[in-house]
Amino acid sequence: MQKTVLAMQSLLPDEMSELETHFRVIRLWKQRDPEATIKEERDNIVAILSTYNATRVSESLIEALPNLEIIAQFGVGVNNINIEAAAARDIAVTYTPDVLTNDTADIAVSLVLALARRIVEGDMFVRVSKWQNGPLPLGTTMAGKTAGIVGLGRIGQAIARRLAAFDMNIIYHGREEKQDQPYEYYADLTEMASAADFLVVSCTGGEETKNLVNYGVLEALGSKGFLVNIARGSVVNEEDLLIILRNQAIAGAGLDVFAAEPHVPEAMLTMDNVVLLPHIGSATIETRTEMGQLVIRNLRAHFEGEPLLTPYQ
Ligand code: DGY
Repeated sequence: MQKTVLAMQSLLPDEMSELETHFRVIRLWKQRDPEATIKEERDNIVAILSTYNATRVSESLIEALPNLEIIAQFGVGVNNINIEAAAARDIAVTYTPDVLTNDTADIAVSLVLALARRIVEGDMFVRVSKWQNGPLPLGTTMAGKTAGIVGLGRIGQAIARRLAAFDMNIIYHGREEKQDQPYEYYADLTEMASAADFLVVSCTGGEETKNLVNYGVLEALGSKGFLVNIARGSVVNEEDLLIILRNQAIAGAGLDVFAAEPHVPEAMLTMDNVVLLPHIGSATIETRTEMGQLVIRNLRAHFEGEPLLTPYQ
């Protein structure tokens, strides 16, 4: 008999079909009463397919499934999963690192470029025929400027390599100095922000980094500085950011992530010093396909008694 997977959100159609050749899949978002379905299926469900932006895999959901063996996350961030509750029951957790590193780093660089060179503003400027009345205000040169990366993990390093290729000076902040990295380390985030022209947030989300980038850090970045966040909305205190943006205490912000997605603070929608994206770090056909394949291979490996390809921790 096929094992039952509770899917909280869909993979791409091809991967979804492939998943269904190996498992019995309950599509939770299609259920009229998801809670009732979970109750009815509680003994059958042995795996959860979760995604970085879907409903939380909470302690109560984990507790409600007595035969749950594995949570396979579609995404590199696992802040939607109660990892402690899973560990307490010895439930395996897998995720999809590496395959999305390049695309996510590209989005960070796109936001740096968009802010520095007023790309989005320029597009609108042409479309609404403002060009006829004079030129777009001048942008900012990237070469020679300093990018301060918050979190020099896989994605942070890929961002650093890319921005270094734009002749930018790279510095970073994180829990600890990385001896194998050529960039200058700042143990103090506020200090790094005052040394940076672009503060690029690429650390993990969750309680540990909640509101790490607060008023003081943003103020230190200064009125010529730009903030880019491709990590998690929770890392930046959104209230503080709104005040700072309103007062033009930084030059602008490029955001791919928000505290309560898909909700974006109303006030940001009318600000012209922000570039807003709908969390598209990994959103390419190639990467989402690879992420889906990795989810399937992890699930199959688990139930075939093979080592997991990408266990979390
Ligand atoms: C992830 O996988 O966690 C990323 O945020 C996707 O863009």
